[in-house]
Amino acid sequence: MCGIVGAVAQRDVVEILVEGLRRLEYRGYDSAGVAVISNSGELQRLRRLGKVKELSDAVKLTPTPGGTGIAHTRWATHGEPSERNAHPHVSEKISVVHNGIIENHGPLREMLKGKGYVFNSDTDTEVIAHLVEEELKTSESLLSAVQKAVKQFNGAYGTVLMDQTDPSRLVVARSGSPLVIGLGIGENFIASDQLALLPVTRRFMFLEEGDVAEITRTTVRIFDKNGAPVERVAHESNVSYDAGDKGQYRHFMLKEIYEQPFAINNTLEGRLNAESVLDETFGNGAAELFKKVKHVQIVACGTSYHSGMVARYWLESLGGISCNVEIASEFRYRKSFVQPNSLLVSISQSGETADTLAALRLAKEAGYVGSLTICNVAGSSLVRESDLAFMTRAGAEIGVASTKAFTTQLVGLAMLTLAIGKYNGLTAAQQKDMVEALRSLPAKLEQTLELASSIEKLAEEFADKHNSLFLGRGDQYPIAMEGALKLKEISYIHAEAYAAGELKHGPLALIDAQMPIIVVAPNNELLEKLQSNVEEVRARGGILYVFADANAHFKSDATQRVVNVPHVHPLIAPIIYTIPLQLLSYYVAIIKGTDVDQPRNLAKSVTVE
Ligand code: AGP
Ligand code: GLU
Repeated sequence: MCGIVGAVAQRDVVEILVEGLRRLEYRGYDSAGVAVISNSGELQRLRRLGKVKELSDAVKLTPTPGGTGIAHTRWATHGEPSERNAHPHVSEKISVVHNGIIENHGPLREMLKGKGYVFNSDTDTEVIAHLVEEELKTSESLLSAVQKAVKQFNGAYGTVLMDQTDPSRLVVARSGSPLVIGLGIGENFIASDQLALLPVTRRFMFLEEGDVAEITRTTVRIFDKNGAPVERVAHESNVSYDAGDKGQYRHFMLKEIYEQPFAINNTLEGRLNAESVLDETFGNGAAELFKKVKHVQIVACGTSYHSGMVARYWLESLGGISCNVEIASEFRYRKSFVQPNSLLVSISQSGETADTLAALRLAKEAGYVGSLTICNVAGSSLVRESDLAFMTRAGAEIGVASTKAFTTQLVGLAMLTLAIGKYNGLTAAQQKDMVEALRSLPAKLEQTLELASSIEKLAEEFADKHNSLFLGRGDQYPIAMEGALKLKEISYIHAEAYAAGELKHGPLALIDAQMPIIVVAPNNELLEKLQSNVEEVRARGGILYVFADANAHFKSDATQRVVNVPHVHPLIAPIIYTIPLQLLSYYVAIIKGTDVDQPRNLAKSVTVE
């Protein structure tokens, strides 16, 4: 979601701040702003609706000197996207940027208005600025004013504040939204994601829930939620930032689609031997924990939820244990029954999704034997707060529409099936067979990517369509769901997914020549059932687009376009069939002329609930 960058340095920081925002652009936002205090104590604030480019153009035209500053990309929750609602927000001396939601902003706003504060925006954020201004009147420092103010907030925040009369420091607070301190030499930084600060430092300290910190050029003081001073360990980051370079590709999404063989190869590397998955793959103590596990509860959102849905088929049919999968935003507000010896598995590309994190935190109290996260971002909240972590080594995913993160999650979940299955009846021969299937993935993916040009042609037929239906059965049903989500996200065509057997229970009523039906049809035990479902659609005049195994005997004709997908082992078929659906949504979006990498209204990392 929104991005935060802050700096306290001797040199001018505006360029560092704006470059930091540029690096967080992929997360999705609607406006951007920066405020810098000059050495003579003047505050220069610039805000723009739209892209960071607008802000950086404005910065070029307006001298913005000063070593202390804060910057923000906003994803509006309260108040329309506009320059007036863009951050930083300013009270008299105090400027603030904020990620998240102050849920009790209404009563706080009324209280502050009663004290004479004038509000200049519709945001919840502005109450932070005025409340800290108010607390500062009776506090010895900005730090203690912020400590008093945060006690009065309900909701989620990552926030950075500065006082125009004292440019020597920034005060930051974290509850529910991530913040990381970047340690420089004679200068220090803060950001909502380490990617923003890689040009200036590689040493980071992650703030924990409830922390408030004061950052000067040479010191960092951190206090926990009880106000006690705490140390947070500094880490050297090995994260790489390749977002600046789309290489030969027109969009990050396309680049990331093509990176999948490499990303999956990385994710497999060093984790398998010829027989099975290596014990250390899931971290210290994983084998002991997995021996006890008799049930898996998966929580995730969006695309990550779809990978969990595939995993349920694998864990129950191969892993030998029961598995539930639930959308995190539902799970967290539902009283659920915890099965004995149950492992909580969270799945998340970003590791910061508010609902998934909340589900993990609730589960800690609920009697699970342990927690594991499947995640793509090292040092993220889910990784730090879970007992075990499996890192998908997809590399930074910049396109808002998740592609390589999804397929590497599936690889992680297939390995989890192996790791748990070996204690629950998965035979040595089955394990070996699964290992071979996983190892065949990179080459099979390369072959599947060769379908791109035929899918690009097919996409032309979608240009004037408003609705579509995706069908699959078994472990391909979640792949149909993922295909539908991709198409919705980036082409804005309405897409729904159904388990093909459900058609006759209602959706058949929708079928006509204006409604493309996309089918994923590997050659598995459900093929004949699926073929019958396809015939039901054809009999009612539907136009079909079938991604099928060559041996599945689907033939192209006037009402059916067939794209043959390489024949693969059934275990990896969900991963392989994801590729044509990603390509289809990409090429449809190109024809529709949408903003592929940053689709409207969406954010890459959803840190509010
Ligand atoms: C994927 O294309 C979406 N943008 C979205 O559904 C995403 O998967 C979801 O927000 C979960 O994010 P996470 O994996 O970072 O937790
Ligand atoms: N709730 C704040 C607003 O609407 C912050 C949103 C964000 O996280 O960008 O301005």
